[in-house]
Order: sequence, then structure tokens, then C-alpha cells
Amino acid sequence: MQLIDGKQTAANIKAEIAEIVSARVAQGHRRPHLVAVLVGHDGGSETYVANKAKACEACGFDSTIIRREDDVTEAELLDLIDKLNKDSNVDGFIIQLPLPAHINEQKITEAILPSKDVDGFHPVNVGRQSIGLPCFHSATPAGIVELLKRYNVPTRGKNCVIIGRSNIVGKPLAALMMQKGVDATTTVCHSATENLAEITRKADIIIAALGRPGFVTADMVKEGATVIDVGTTRVPDSSRKSGFRLCGDVDFENVAPKCAFITPVPGGVGPMTIVSLMQNTLRAALGEIY
Ligand code: GUN
Repeated sequence: MQLIDGKQTAANIKAEIAEIVSARVAQGHRRPHLVAVLVGHDGGSETYVANKAKACEACGFDSTIIRREDDVTEAELLDLIDKLNKDSNVDGFIIQLPLPAHINEQKITEAILPSKDVDGFHPVNVGRQSIGLPCFHSATPAGIVELLKRYNVPTRGKNCVIIGRSNIVGKPLAALMMQKGVDATTTVCHSATENLAEITRKADIIIAALGRPGFVTADMVKEGATVIDVGTTRVPDSSRKSGFRLCGDVDFENVAPKCAFITPVPGGVGPMTIVSLMQNTLRAALGEIY
């Protein structure tokens, strides 16, 4: 069994990006600039945004965090997005989700210019990704494909089973896994899937993205499979300073001995999601896509 080290891979990629940025700065270009908009004080969102700012620093990017309180109106947020769309000093920006219930997330997502949508959530980017056109790929799926490539996990003609059909992981990941160059035979399972274990037992690659700690058990996995765990559920843990620990969707202890490759939680897919955002921001600054 080989552990897929997302943390180390992410550090390598950030170093690669930093080299490109420092060469550009030496040529007189300004640094790529990512803006993150954070509404309210959700602990998870605070951590994610702080980690994104830290990753920007490692890549040599400028970053700005714009904070708004929970009672910000949808109109105020749309106005802010309009300003960021027009700001030529901002290469890309993200609105950290989730947003308070009185704000329509889809409306907010669609207000972002596709050319600055470095999350890859805008329907234009989602649509372009699904037909293989240049676009900002959604961060978690792109990070997973990058990990598989860097660890030389065979994908061509292999059975890939994705558990979970969310708009930000399951669906866009299916599009990437079946695309030319990756070439996996891709199945998406979800809450209505019958005989799930029968399907996952045929998988060469299982990608668990449903957000249920320990859902994938050893009996669901064939010998020699590769298992990618996207789950990051916060489970209360009084022995930790933070009061919680992150739990993946895979029963790691019992599944790992059967695997060719497996990602841990934390330190697997999570750091790669942030690095994909950095790659998208660099591509935005270079004008590579739009
Ligand atoms: N909330 C959880 N993950 C993400 C992400 O990748 N981007 C944004 N904008 N919000 C999130």
C-alpha cells in the first residue's frame, strides 16, 4: 500500500508556482492577486480562507480577504462582486460558501465573471469543463486528478466509482475522470444507488465524496484498488485543542491494507483543493483561459 501524500504534493506544486511567479516579477509583471470574500464567522470557512491566504503567500501571490457580516444583503454582495469583476488589479476571486440562508448562492455564483471565477463554480466554467474546453476546473476534482497523475495511478480504461453527486465534487469530477487523457470508465453512485457495495467492489478507483465519516468499509473495496477520500467532516473530540477532528468518508484503518494507493484525512485531498485554486489563479493572471 502506498500512501498518497497530498500535503507534500501540494507543497511541491506551490514551489513550482512560486518559481513561475518570481520569474514573472523579475520581468516586471505584478504578482497574481486572489481575493476571498468571507461572510460571517463560520469556523470552517474562517479556517479555509486563512489557509487559502497562506497558500497565496507560499506561491508569491498577493491576497486580500474581504469580510462582511452575516446580515449583509444580497444586493450589497452583488455590488461587491460587480466591483471585483471590474477591478483590473484582481485576477480572480472567490465567495466562500456556505452563505447565510437569506442569500441565493446560485445568483451570487452566476454574478462572478467566468474569467475571474477561479473556484470554477460558474455554469460557464462547469459547462466548458464538461465538454473539454479550456476553463477554470473546479478545485477539488482538479486536485484529485493531479494527485492520480503525480502518483502514476493507472486510470485509462479503469473502473472509477465516485460516491456522491454534489455540484462541486461528484459531478465535475465525473466529467474529468472520463475525459480524454484520463480515460476512466466512470460510474457515479449516490443516495438512491442500489447494491452500492457490489458496484464499489468492481472499482479500480473509488472516490468517496459523500460526507459520511467511515462510510467506505473494507468489504466494499477490492484488493489492489486505489481509494481517494474527499470527506472532511468535523467530529467533536474533546482531546483536541480545537475540540474536533477531521474524519474522512473511508474507514482508513481497515481499508488501507487492501489498497494499492490511498489518501489520508487530513493531508490527502484537502491541501490539493487549495493548490488547484492557486493554479487557477495563476492561469487567470497569465490570461491563459479567457
Ligand atoms: N466552501 C467549501 N469549499 C469551498 C470552495 O472550494 N470554494 C468556496 N468558494 N467555498 C467553499
